[in-house]
Amino acid sequence: MPHDSFGRPINYLRISVIDHCNLRCVYCMPLRGLSFVPSGDLLTADQIETVVRAAAKLGFNKIRLTGGEPLLRSDLLDIVERISRVDGIDDLGMTTNAILLPEQAVPLREAGLSRINIHLDTLDPQNLKRVMRFGTFEQIWAGIEAAERAGFAPIKLNAVVVRDFNEVDVVALARLTIERDWYVRFIELMPLGGGECARLSLAQYVPTPETKARIEVELGPLSELPPTSPSDEARNYRLEGARGVVGFISPVSEPYCGSCSRMRLTADGKFHLCLLNDDELDVRRALLNGGGEEAVSKILLEAVRRKPTGHRLEQGVSTERRAMFQIGG
Ligand code: 5AD
Ligand code: SF4
Repeated sequence: MPHDSFGRPINYLRISVIDHCNLRCVYCMPLRGLSFVPSGDLLTADQIETVVRAAAKLGFNKIRLTGGEPLLRSDLLDIVERISRVDGIDDLGMTTNAILLPEQAVPLREAGLSRINIHLDTLDPQNLKRVMRFGTFEQIWAGIEAAERAGFAPIKLNAVVVRDFNEVDVVALARLTIERDWYVRFIELMPLGGGECARLSLAQYVPTPETKARIEVELGPLSELPPTSPSDEARNYRLEGARGVVGFISPVSEPYCGSCSRMRLTADGKFHLCLLNDDELDVRRALLNGGGEEAVSKILLEAVRRKPTGHRLEQGVSTERRAMFQIGG
């Protein structure tokens, strides 16, 4: 497994397969002024497979498909099938808003997808319209049920907590874990992309301790669980007598950069070295020039070597040239 220059083992590749999305979450995508990667400039399924093969040979064993919204990619099943066949990849997950899952959950499972994380900011249909803007609660809920029926387990829901939008709704979301063996995880807002979403993310930020206290006041104490893996970005808790888990992902109030194991690949074929930093290395150009696994390996090792130590949000540094939907979280 490759190690970066700070000794961190890097074994987890997040692949953004498309930058389009069918929602417009207030902190992620502005309503106007969007431009997307032309479909001809996206990495093809074949190129993605080459990158995954190269990564697996280096010791990467964990892949997550992200977007934008990955279910909008028309050859997603082909991509999943190809990746799941690669020796050495033992964990293939996807992060989605679930809108299109009712049609796709079963075929994805059959194609070899092992895990699904679903993004849902609130259970309140009115509030959902304000935060996620397009799409409805009923659609997302139908997607979650489809994922569960298709056998994806455990179901993990991710909510981004946004002041004046859904910071009170965290209680109802956490309550889901009492009856269900789901993970419900709350994510702190991060300012990416320099534009209106980045400004909103700074202004409406809610620190995890506040969210956790809000849940405990209503639902009782949360007991901390031992970490599942050293690179798990969430701190996990359980409500008394609950079947599921409440998690907190706190990149701002409690950075976990020291145990980062991630590399990211953008839909237009750049290794993005750290979520909260602009540094990238182009791999698509090498693929277009006829480079195969070996050429990719070299670039990937260089990308790992150049990973920055950690983010510098407190100094006002973040990713300026890309927004979240162009990296995939
Ligand atoms: N801050 C934190 N998380 C975000 N996401 C999107 N934008 C932000 C942001 N500004 C999360 C969503 C999405 C995942 C890929 O990243 O939960 O599902
Ligand atoms: Fe789409 Fe996810 Fe961004 Fe929301 S957070 S707009 S669902 S990519």
